[in-house]
Amino acid sequence: MTDTLAPEPKAEPTMPRLGQPAPEFEAITTDGVIRLADYRDRWLILFSHPADFTPVCTTEFIAFAEIYPELQRRGVELLGLSIDSVYSHIAWLRNIDEKMGVHVPFPIIADLDKKVATLYGMIQPAESKTEASRCVFFIDPKGILRAMIYYPLTTGRNMAEILRVVDALQLNDAAKVATPANWVPGAEVLLPAPATAEMAELRMAEHLPGTRDWYLTRKAAPVPEAEKV
Ligand code: BEZ
Repeated sequence: MTDTLAPEPKAEPTMPRLGQPAPEFEAITTDGVIRLADYRDRWLILFSHPADFTPVCTTEFIAFAEIYPELQRRGVELLGLSIDSVYSHIAWLRNIDEKMGVHVPFPIIADLDKKVATLYGMIQPAESKTEASRCVFFIDPKGILRAMIYYPLTTGRNMAEILRVVDALQLNDAAKVATPANWVPGAEVLLPAPATAEMAELRMAEHLPGTRDWYLTRKAAPVPEAEKV
């Protein structure tokens, strides 16, 4: 007999993997309880920040609020997260509105028990054991994790890069092309490399103007559906 309870098994920190279903969660947020499944059929950017009422995070929230209309135009929702209480989130968002004149239009998870942060590997213990790093997860309408970016505590994120990744992923899907280094919307894209020797022969036989060799073919940006006449 013992008069102490066995300690609850600790959730092991995991790293989500690209191309696999993003880990399911149910969390308390500034908009009430939200589940990952609530975002099915829409793109979602789930991002973490270290703490409310801190300088870099405040500039990031203003910047996320500024790109929110651009994300909505692309069918993308935003969901923030930190290991703070929902009351702290509410107070901080009200402060940003009152002092900085910026309304933050998306919800934030209050992950006090670190459940979601642990599932998504947001805590990098060598940086901080109590705060999430600056992580960005791009989750597609089928709930598949398609891209992730991790930044350290002291480096604010680049919103242009976040929009660029959304544009690249959506074009990759719609036009079955890849996007080269430093690609921006409207720039040339890449044909997928031939997967067999026969396909390599066929690629070379096509004599496409953008072919440098059997595995490297550039082509003009596909015309978006909306602009086709
Ligand atoms: C910041 O947002 O300024 C910050 C937060 C946690 C650690 C370092 C910087």
